[in-house]
Amino acid sequence: MSDDDTVLEARLPEGETFDPPEAFIEEANVTDPEIYEEFEENWPACWETAAELVDWDREYDQVLDASDPPFYEWFTDGKLNASANCLDRHLEDRGDEPAIEWVGEPTDEADRTYTYEQLHREVNEFAAALRDLGVGEDDVVTVYMPMIPELPIAMLACARIGAPHSVVFAGFSAQALSTRMNAADSSYLVTCDGYYRRGDPLDHLEKANEGLDGVDYDVDATVVVDRLGPNGDGFGHDLADGQHDYATLIADHEGATVAPVSRDAEDMLFLMYTSGTTGQPKGVKHTTGGYLSWVTWTSQAVLDVKPEDTYFCAADIGWITGHSYIVYGPLSLGTTTMMYEGTPDYPDNDRLWEIIEEYEATQLYTAPTAIRAFMKWGEEYPDRHDLSSLRLLGTVGEPINPRAWKWYYTNIGDEACPIVDTWWQTETGGMMVTTLPGICEMKPGAAGPPLPGVDAQVVDAAGEEVEAGRAGYLTIQKPWPGMLRTLYRNDERFIREYWAEYSDLDSDDMDDWVYSPEDGAKIDEDGYITVLGRVDDVLNVSGHRLGTMELESAIVGVEGVAEAAVVGGDHELKGEAVYAYVITEDGYEGDETLRQRIVDGVESAIGPIARPEQVIFTPDLPKTRSGKIMRRLLENIANGEELGNTSTLQNPGVVEDIQEKVRDA
Ligand code: WTA
Repeated sequence: MSDDDTVLEARLPEGETFDPPEAFIEEANVTDPEIYEEFEENWPACWETAAELVDWDREYDQVLDASDPPFYEWFTDGKLNASANCLDRHLEDRGDEPAIEWVGEPTDEADRTYTYEQLHREVNEFAAALRDLGVGEDDVVTVYMPMIPELPIAMLACARIGAPHSVVFAGFSAQALSTRMNAADSSYLVTCDGYYRRGDPLDHLEKANEGLDGVDYDVDATVVVDRLGPNGDGFGHDLADGQHDYATLIADHEGATVAPVSRDAEDMLFLMYTSGTTGQPKGVKHTTGGYLSWVTWTSQAVLDVKPEDTYFCAADIGWITGHSYIVYGPLSLGTTTMMYEGTPDYPDNDRLWEIIEEYEATQLYTAPTAIRAFMKWGEEYPDRHDLSSLRLLGTVGEPINPRAWKWYYTNIGDEACPIVDTWWQTETGGMMVTTLPGICEMKPGAAGPPLPGVDAQVVDAAGEEVEAGRAGYLTIQKPWPGMLRTLYRNDERFIREYWAEYSDLDSDDMDDWVYSPEDGAKIDEDGYITVLGRVDDVLNVSGHRLGTMELESAIVGVEGVAEAAVVGGDHELKGEAVYAYVITEDGYEGDETLRQRIVDGVESAIGPIARPEQVIFTPDLPKTRSGKIMRRLLENIANGEELGNTSTLQNPGVVEDIQEKVRDA
């Protein structure tokens, strides 16, 4: 958990709060404060409000079946298709309106607009192609693609034929791809030749092919989108046997239509692998009815999305934020969703502001790590552009400190846009704790109250609610429709990781089951929750979750490394950065060569996002008498903080030695 003081450090004067702007309230989707009470009184029937935003092929019988906690079922016996909800139902009214506005990284490349009609057509064609390649209902299709339109097209095509997708972030390594394909037993891959990063074409297919080499079985088919080739920037790869060119498949299926498969509400829509406390990533399973209802409702209530908006979420679709709030939520509401391929600093630090001005974007949803970078670059960049089209700002992924909040509010929102600081997780499917922008006052640094109908509480280690102002653990005391249903093929780990801490595991009474997100938090007198950070061995680097075990096993895999311990150190832009303490094997020097090999090892096991900020070679690691590594101490050292009592260590002498090395680094 990040230290209380760090979070409070940059606090605004105590009690400074902001009211939602009047002009916003007048037009907001949700404005009646009674919603909190109503939802509480009508729980779980209140979730019909979410389900009503979705079109069902068959009405559900029951909102919640809680007979076998924590294996909850929502909207039982209902049937629907997510792609039909995101496409077909908008054709009549919004067929000619843009569904996706895509901006590539190269500034001289034409942007691409997909109207609902066009998107519908291409999704159908690709769905037909996938079927012809042999993809059947419930076959997991892995999608390893950067921010190009074919990524959401592939997701929606999968959804159309009832094949769950498992999207792997394009920045992940080949090895991470193989691990995820193997874990899901996925025999189909959709990928691309490459993409642009800060002006340079990157070879993505090489990485994908290397990943395929690590798959334990024969993959049935791979589809490759030619992203760079048409620009003359391709790497000249020949497609191997079983690899198909996307454009050829689309041409071969021109005009094909595929009737959306009616999926059971509880049928899997997708898998998303995320980091946990062991080396093995967790396959978070989301289902169709509850997830789609949840992201549609929260997009409407929290992001205030309306069909006529041009909504911009600057996340990557390879993470849950992009799934829920670039693809499914916004498209389900029939709005225009933006996609940008590149980074905010290419070709210059005003790229996002330029895009917002050009497209007259109405919402911006991004992460504190990006806001800290904007702040560092200075307000001259947003000042160059007219951002007055913006109505609402959002943040997600990590705690935002009040100074960054205020900067965002003033320099991007011109004090005219509410900010929603949304706490949620891959596992929750969508937002859980945040203000409703047309109702609640905002307190910079605090995400807000739980959403109506969400029962979030801050408790102590014994599960008792803590007093206002005291740090404790965030818990969710009642199930919600968007929740993960299990960890794929691992019910036992699902229970152990999320429920074991505060639940009575023998009970079949829902009230005895408590979900534990593994975040530290505190709550104030008004019920506003400030999230303090992870309390498990998971780091949050630039809003991305990285398991320390995954990192450590990557490092220990490097020749010459005997032992490693990874902790998070404070970082101005990334929030947290990877600090690796390493003991070398006999005969190896802790020198620059080894350091580089460790960095390379981590990049190839996970990806560049996991690159260690510092590698500290040490003859020993601080351990308790029972042999446990004292991570907290290593964290304090990384942050140059005061150390507590070290006398219980097996080897107290090592501490000073490590401190010196960190200081010198
Ligand atoms: C953190 C991202 C503080 C938290 C949607 C959570 C936040 C983890 C916030 C989930 C926020 C997310 N304030 N912390 N507004 N939003 N987090 O699964 O530690 O990538 O558990 O989902 O990010 O990360 P994940």
